[in-house]
Amino acid sequence: MNGSQTTSTAGGGASATAIAHPNIALVKYWGKRDERLILPVAGSMSMTLDSAATTTTVRLGGAADAFYLNGKRVDGKAAQRVSVFLELIRERAGSCECATVVSNNRAPTGAGLASSAAGFAALAVAGAAAYGLQLSREQLSALARRGSGSACRSVIDRFAVWHTGADDTSSYATQLSAPEMRMVVCQVNSAEKAVSSREAMLLTRDTSPFWGAWAGHTERVLSRMITACEADDFTALGEIAEAHALQLHALIMSAEPAIRYLEPVSFAIFDVIKQLRESGIECYATADAGPNVVVITRPRDTVVVSAKLAEFGAVHTAAPGRGAYLSDNHLTVPECHA
Ligand code: PMV
Repeated sequence: MNGSQTTSTAGGGASATAIAHPNIALVKYWGKRDERLILPVAGSMSMTLDSAATTTTVRLGGAADAFYLNGKRVDGKAAQRVSVFLELIRERAGSCECATVVSNNRAPTGAGLASSAAGFAALAVAGAAAYGLQLSREQLSALARRGSGSACRSVIDRFAVWHTGADDTSSYATQLSAPEMRMVVCQVNSAEKAVSSREAMLLTRDTSPFWGAWAGHTERVLSRMITACEADDFTALGEIAEAHALQLHALIMSAEPAIRYLEPVSFAIFDVIKQLRESGIECYATADAGPNVVVITRPRDTVVVSAKLAEFGAVHTAAPGRGAYLSDNHLTVPECHA
């Protein structure tokens, strides 16, 4: 699949552009059994959104890697993470060419709305194409995983299961079909979170008294979720997703010192969703590593749910979207840095 949209310009190296979207987990990933390879302790499942796209262009050339995000040059930790990831692609491609990465991201960065998942899915697909690697969807998913675990699911169309796998090549996501649904995203706070999910996972593993139960429980939840999807059972999907989200946050809060991503307003939304449910509108709430809440609903109920959530923050509705794909619309280095 790669290669067709790779261009080579006079005076510049090969370049490729990819577009990817965030994914929101319905069965959460939390914890790694291998920090370097980013192998998870349990499987997980998510919906890839059709909104908040990240577009990333990788252009080969230059004396060093450079990273531009939303019009600004980025240095430090974030740029290093991009470079380490490019190094992985270079090793596989047998290349030592540096690259300039230009990325535009429509979701707030680091606010628990899966911006890093969309970012690394786009970088994996664009980077592999720019360096001339011919990879299957599974291989692209496994590659994206090395940037940020949950990114392996944003490579997949619509709904994805991330299989724990045994090693670097067998831990990737594949597609599954799920009941027709929408996600209503309620952004109550777009500030970057104080504790990254990477650090929080480590602290949970090292200090939570409940850690020992987590992986086995999540595997059982995933298998119930897959059964619900196979049966096209929206109610079971919603109930399983909401319960697992709250279990994740209870686990995170049980770390020492405690980490709390959910804010009072997040809990208020969970309460309102329960009330809506009791009034006959079937909807369920979930939240990743941040205070923002995502509501799972049937397509016909999105208007009512959105109106209710608008009291709490900025709201948008997402349908199941496309996994990361190549595009011809290449980004250029922002003017002020060119
Ligand atoms: O992929 P990371 O390291 O950003 O971790 C994501 C963790 C959660 O969003 C909380 C859960 C998930 O499955 O996406």
